[in-house]
Amino acid sequence: MPEQKTVLIAALDVDSREEAFAIVEKIGSSVEWYKVGKQLFTRCGPELISGLKQRGKKVFLDLKYHDIPNTVAQAVRSAAAIGADMVNVHASGGPAMLKAAAQAAAESKICLIAVTVLTSLDQQELNAIGIQDSPADQVLRLARLTQQAGLAGVVCSAREITLIQNACGKDFLTIVPGIRPAGADAGDQKRIMTPAQAAAAGASYIVVGRPILAASDPSEAAQAIRQELTSSSTL
Ligand code: C5P
Repeated sequence: MPEQKTVLIAALDVDSREEAFAIVEKIGSSVEWYKVGKQLFTRCGPELISGLKQRGKKVFLDLKYHDIPNTVAQAVRSAAAIGADMVNVHASGGPAMLKAAAQAAAESKICLIAVTVLTSLDQQELNAIGIQDSPADQVLRLARLTQQAGLAGVVCSAREITLIQNACGKDFLTIVPGIRPAGADAGDQKRIMTPAQAAAAGASYIVVGRPILAASDPSEAAQAIRQELTSSSTL
């Protein structure tokens, strides 16, 4: 069986299509996958996605749907229709919502993943919304629900990869932000891992924003990260 490699997704956290496409041109062939989130999608919409597809790129549409089952299922169909290759929902939307979303995703090739517990929610925040479990227990509960509903995987921190793979198996995808190459500025990320560490931990995808976007040479920065991923997975 071919060895599974960790795939790099660059987060297009910018405000305009001009900025977005300028970065994509600069990075060139070093990155195939781009994450488009609420900031850019709210301004530029589906045209941005078709522009990325025309450039031969793959798109993770990070809109974190959370609504009643029918609405979320239709949103997943819409994401597939505009060309997104991956999209996500909040697992806390519940089993019926997750199943409806998974059924909608199965009608196309779109990869459907879920967010478990936002990393901005600590124990105190969870308690405030009526959840007494620890963040780690809640992550596991929601990862299991996600898998039972037929979704492909979850967004998680690098520290949660092993926990989640032990509970859900290694085929369950882990999409991991909070990545910083050695020596890079952490910014507002608190619990960071290097690309090599995330690859060694078994991440399916890593999501990297500022270390690529803010680099003086984004293409070189992306290539260095890919190099780290490759050397780590062949260790
Ligand atoms: O610039 P940086 O590499 O920190 O960007 C990481 C990307 O991943 C951003 O788009 C951020 O919103 C997203 N993300 C995250 N932490 C999460 C979930 C998503 O950093 N828990």
